[in-house]
Amino acid sequence: MNRKPIIAANWKMNKTPKEAVEFVDLFENHIGGSTEVDIVLAPAFVALPAVKEALANSDTTMLAAQNCYFEESGAFTAEISIGMLKEIGVDYVIIGHSERRAIFGESDSMINSKAKALHAAGVKPIVCIGETLEERDGGKIEDVLRRQIEEGLNGLSSENMPDTVIAYEPVWAIGTGRTASPDQAQEAHAFSRSVLKDMFGEEISQSIRIQYGGSVKPANTQELMSQEDVDGALVGGASLEAESFSEICKNAC
Ligand code: PGA
Repeated sequence: MNRKPIIAANWKMNKTPKEAVEFVDLFENHIGGSTEVDIVLAPAFVALPAVKEALANSDTTMLAAQNCYFEESGAFTAEISIGMLKEIGVDYVIIGHSERRAIFGESDSMINSKAKALHAAGVKPIVCIGETLEERDGGKIEDVLRRQIEEGLNGLSSENMPDTVIAYEPVWAIGTGRTASPDQAQEAHAFSRSVLKDMFGEEISQSIRIQYGGSVKPANTQELMSQEDVDGALVGGASLEAESFSEICKNAC
């Protein structure tokens, strides 16, 4: 199955709106309209409108939010609804990032509510999964990935799945400089796809893109992307500089 690679920049709590626009200008120059991969930028909420405007002439680069809330509106102080994001023109929303899970206490069932609400609104989720070092050392990788996938995607239909991206991010590899080896990534991706097959069938599972995330940089992109079940990257630290992120996008082809 030929899956188009998808490379996403997760800027986390970095870049003001002005800095985000400066990045876009530099990045679009570097990347020069290549269309072999889908490229997604996920700035902070406050930078979304400015980045959307800066991307107006780009036919390759799409926009993502780093989170959302699943209710449509109401008394949820400081939360951001999917309708608000849609109005800005957001294409994707990252949900269930390990920092959201660990620091802000997000559960699989909350992530599931977000996934369902995003699909209902026609916005594509990037659903993050991944084990901690303790879980890996305890031989629990498969249990953890299975639980996160089954609970996170519970109730989604087969039609939703080609528009759902999974991001496998081993927590021990995020921001640590310690990347999963290509074999470790492939093993976790193949297992995740087998869980998707149990849930949605072989054909659908083959169409779903699974990104790898955790200390991706220009030098390790090619090898990671050469693995059969690795269909893209979710990049934190190395996405903050236009040059290194554009190298990653080029190396992913
Ligand atoms: P990193 O972050 O590339 O800095 O490891 C990845 C992520 O958290 O999405």
